[in-house]
Amino acid sequence: MPSLNLTAVRAEFPALASDCVYLDNAGGSQVLRRVADRIHEYLLTSSVQLGASYAQSQFATERVLSARRTIAELINAPHDDEVVMGPATTALMFVLTQALLPGIHPGDEIIVTNTDHEANIGGWIRLRQAGAVIKIWEVNHDSLMLELDDLDRLLTGRTKWVAMTHASNVLGSVNPVAEVARRVHAVGGRLCVDGVAYAPHRLVDVQASGADIYVFSFYKVFGPHYAVLWGNRELLLSLPSLNHHFIDPGELPYKLQPGNVNFELSWGCAGIADYLNDIGTSLGASGTRRQRMQSAFDAFTLHEDALAERLLSYLHAKSNVRIIGHHKVHNGNRMPTISFVVAGRHSEIIVRHGDKFNIGIRFGDFYARRLIEALGLQAQGGVVRVSMAHYNTAEEIDRLIGCLDEVIGK
Ligand SMILES: Cc1ncc(COP(=O)(O)O)c(C=O)c1O
Repeated sequence: MPSLNLTAVRAEFPALASDCVYLDNAGGSQVLRRVADRIHEYLLTSSVQLGASYAQSQFATERVLSARRTIAELINAPHDDEVVMGPATTALMFVLTQALLPGIHPGDEIIVTNTDHEANIGGWIRLRQAGAVIKIWEVNHDSLMLELDDLDRLLTGRTKWVAMTHASNVLGSVNPVAEVARRVHAVGGRLCVDGVAYAPHRLVDVQASGADIYVFSFYKVFGPHYAVLWGNRELLLSLPSLNHHFIDPGELPYKLQPGNVNFELSWGCAGIADYLNDIGTSLGASGTRRQRMQSAFDAFTLHEDALAERLLSYLHAKSNVRIIGHHKVHNGNRMPTISFVVAGRHSEIIVRHGDKFNIGIRFGDFYARRLIEALGLQAQGGVVRVSMAHYNTAEEIDRLIGCLDEVIGK
C-alpha cells in the first residue's frame, strides 16, 4: 500500500507550521485549511435565510442540503434526512434522550458502560425520571475491555437501550459494536454508539456498525466545533418533535434540530470528505468516493499504528510506567490514543514537563470520570494521555520520548 505523503498532508493544516507538537488530538484535532476556507467563503457569500424564493436563498439552501448529502456519504447513511446536526455530541445526546423520554416506561432497562465519556451516560441516566432501570456494563480490570460475557449477563427481554463507545477516549481500545448490536437486537433492544474517538482514525460506516444511533463530533475529525447524529429513519420518525408545535413531526431531521443547523459549519464540514477523497486519490485509489476515503483511512491507520507502536514500546520498557490499555498494536485493537501513569508521580508533573518542550499533551479523566474512578486513578490526577493523529510524525514522537526520558527516567 502506498504510504502517506506527510509533507503534503501537513500542508493542509496551517497550524502544523508552528513549533507546537500537537498530541492532544483526542481533545481536538487541527483544522483543515479547506474547511476554514469554506466557512469563511460561506459567511461572506451565502449568509441569507434558507427556504425563500429569491436566488441567493435558493443557492444557500442547496449548499446546506448538499453539505448534508456529503456528510451522509461520509458516514454511509442510507438516507440523508437521517443526518441530524448540532453543536456537540453532548448536546445531540441530550436532544436524543429528551426525545426518547416519553417512550420510556417504568421497568425499561438501559445499559450504559463505565468506560464511556459522560456524554453517552448522563442523558441516559436522567431517564430514571421516567422509571428506567439503569444497569452498568463495567470494564474488566484485567483486560481493560468491555467483555461480551458481561454484557450477556445484563441483557434481558426488558433491555430497551444499550449505550457504548466505539473506541475509548482513554483506553484507546476499539469495541466490537456490530457484535454488540447483534446481541442487543436479539433481545429486542437498540444500540447507541458514541463514535467520537473512532471517527478520526477509521472511516465511519453507520450501517456496518449495526447501531441504531451513531454520533460524533467534527472538531476531532479536522473540522470545527460541530457534531452529527445519525439514526435510522424508522426510529427517528417514531420520536416526538423537539421543534416548534407547527413543525410536522414527520419532518426529518428538522424536528430534532430546534433552531436549525449552523449553515456555515455544515458547509465547512463537507470539506472533510473532500480532503479524504483527495488523499485517497493521491494514493492511487479509484472507485467511489467512499472507496477513496477508505484508502485514505487505510493509510492513516498504517502510519498511526507505527507511531503508536513507537511510543508503546518505549513506555512498556519502563518499569515505573503502567500503560492504561493494550500495550501492543495488534489487528486494529487500538487507536493511537495512549494513556499511562508513572509510579509515585502525579500525572500533572509529566504533562507540565511537556509544556517546556512545547508538546501538547494533557492529564485527567477526559470526562470518562467513571472509568478513572473504577481504576482508582483519581488521586494521581488521572492518566497522562498522548493522542495522535495521522499528521503527526515519528520525529514528534521522538521529541516526546526525549522529554519523557527526563521526567520518567531512562
Ligand atoms: C469519546 C467522546 N465522546 C464524547 C465527547 C463529547 O463531545 P462534545 O465535546 O462534542 O460534546 C468526547 C469529547 O472529548 C469524547 O472524547
